[in-house]
Amino acid sequence: MEYNILKYIHILSATLLFGTGLGTAFFMWMAYFSKDIKTLTHTTKHVILADWFFTTPTVIIQPLTGIWLMIILHYPFNSLWFALVIGLYVLAGLSWIIVVFIQYRLHNIIKNINPKHEIIPREYHMLMRWWLCLGVIAFSAIMVIYWLMVAKDGLGHALMR
Ligand code: HEM
Repeated sequence: MEYNILKYIHILSATLLFGTGLGTAFFMWMAYFSKDIKTLTHTTKHVILADWFFTTPTVIIQPLTGIWLMIILHYPFNSLWFALVIGLYVLAGLSWIIVVFIQYRLHNIIKNINPKHEIIPREYHMLMRWWLCLGVIAFSAIMVIYWLMVAKDGLGHALMR
């Protein structure tokens, strides 16, 4: 029962983490392509909110429920599988934290644009490129983690004895 509830929360949280990431990325790009200052201001603000409401709790829930599941299932903490999962999770997490800071900066830039000129500064375009690169890194890391969760490659391979 405890196992089923934990795994249920773990998978639900993974869905929310992945879905929010992909969904907010889609709306950020659509707003960016629109080049409309009002759309960009509102979308960036709402993406920041979505990150606080949905992504932040799932980022915490994921390793907690994951490690709890490992304890119940007696999965080894010295396995290659665990090292890969944690390594990739830290990589995705760090990329996401930088992305959050970039989003705050993007929001500040866009809300201070003079509505008469409506020209998006170069810094905004440069930050959007960084935002995309880091998003791709985090997305790829999560895709590999999904695979490791399902296939459990490296679970029987001990790093230290
Ligand atoms: C952060 C560290 C994580 C740890 C320690 C961890 C650990 C685990 C464990 C022990 C299981 C149960 C496996 C079983 O029932 O045999 C599991 C299942 C699962 N995890 Fe994670 N997990 C982590 C992160 C993630 C992330 C980031 C995602 C995706 C965003 C994810 C998605 C899943 C899925 C979809 C399953 C179900 C797999 C299946 O039943 O075949 N996990 N995880």
